Amino acid sequence: MKLETERDATEWVWAAKALAVVSAWNALGLFARLRQGPATRDELGADPRAIATTLPVLKYLGLVAGDGKRLVLTDAGRRLVDEGGMPTERNLEMLTDLGRMKEVLRDGGPVKDAQGKSKGTTGGTHAADPVHTQRFLDMLYGSSGAAAQSSLDWLSPLLPAGGRVLDLGGGHGRYARAFADAGFPTTLFDLPHAVAYAKNRHGTALTYQEGNFHEVESFGGPYDLIFMANVVHGESAADNAALVARAAKSLNPGGYVALKDMFLDEHGKGPENAVFFGLTMLFYTNHGSSPTLRQSREWFHAAGLEGPEITLLDTQQLMVGRKPG
Ligand SMILES: C[S@@+](CC[C@H](N)C(=O)[O-])C[C@H]1O[C@@H](n2cnc3c(N)ncnc32)[C@H](O)[C@@H]1O
Repeated sequence: MKLETERDATEWVWAAKALAVVSAWNALGLFARLRQGPATRDELGADPRAIATTLPVLKYLGLVAGDGKRLVLTDAGRRLVDEGGMPTERNLEMLTDLGRMKEVLRDGGPVKDAQGKSKGTTGGTHAADPVHTQRFLDMLYGSSGAAAQSSLDWLSPLLPAGGRVLDLGGGHGRYARAFADAGFPTTLFDLPHAVAYAKNRHGTALTYQEGNFHEVESFGGPYDLIFMANVVHGESAADNAALVARAAKSLNPGGYVALKDMFLDEHGKGPENAVFFGLTMLFYTNHGSSPTLRQSREWFHAAGLEGPEITLLDTQQLMVGRKPG
């Protein structure tokens, strides 16, 4: 993705419009209606002029086909609906928030809503907003199946049989559950509202510790692995240094701290997911950003951990440091 000509910027505008159209069709259940079978435009029950105007966009994108009367989902459209891969209403909210980029740039994040209230969260969850927290953790749970498996595949060979694991900021618990099901007794640590969600999903398969990871005396343990997925991008560099240092204290000798996240490369210009995810953190957390690999290595060194080894795992990196001993 590069801005080299005026045409590039025009295509970005088209992409934003396409995202809005597809997300809105999905939010109004129009794809779900077509999944049941062919429908006329009138049967979709939306504004006729808006249907007529957005339809060419969907045909251009290859999601909907049909003559003037009856509309059908294409194979690609049907597959996306079945896989739950159609962009959702969350994108419409994001586009609204991105419209406040100028204010965020001038005054700093998090972004404010129409009433002027901050939309900052604690790592995506919100104690005062159970609906938002549930929606967010459901979304993360749904999208982390493969990542939980690959994290287990990569890290479990490092652990002793029956080694103890802490999933710090474990949220929905899908990573914790992968380790627990593989025979590693696993504790999930998170804020009380997130622990309540995880308990609902996993019951006695996990043990739980509620608390603020910046404030508790100890994480318990000692553990053989303290795993943090998608946690450090929500925190400031100073808080992350302190968090890694405190995690290191809760490890057995020879134990590991593993950070799974999107880290910026040494030039600060890639990879793409880390570059753009930083904006999400600016908009929805008080201090978060995409950390750089260089900065993150320092947290391990300052905590007295060996390494870290850095591995590309799917679309994220895994940094793993070992406590000497
Ligand atoms: C982006 S979610 C990541 C969840 C899960 N690890 C994953 O990768 O899908 C960040 C998690 O950190 C938790 N968190 C944020 N701040 C926290 C704090 N101060 N103490 C404990 N947990 C916190 C949030 O509640 C949330 O569950």
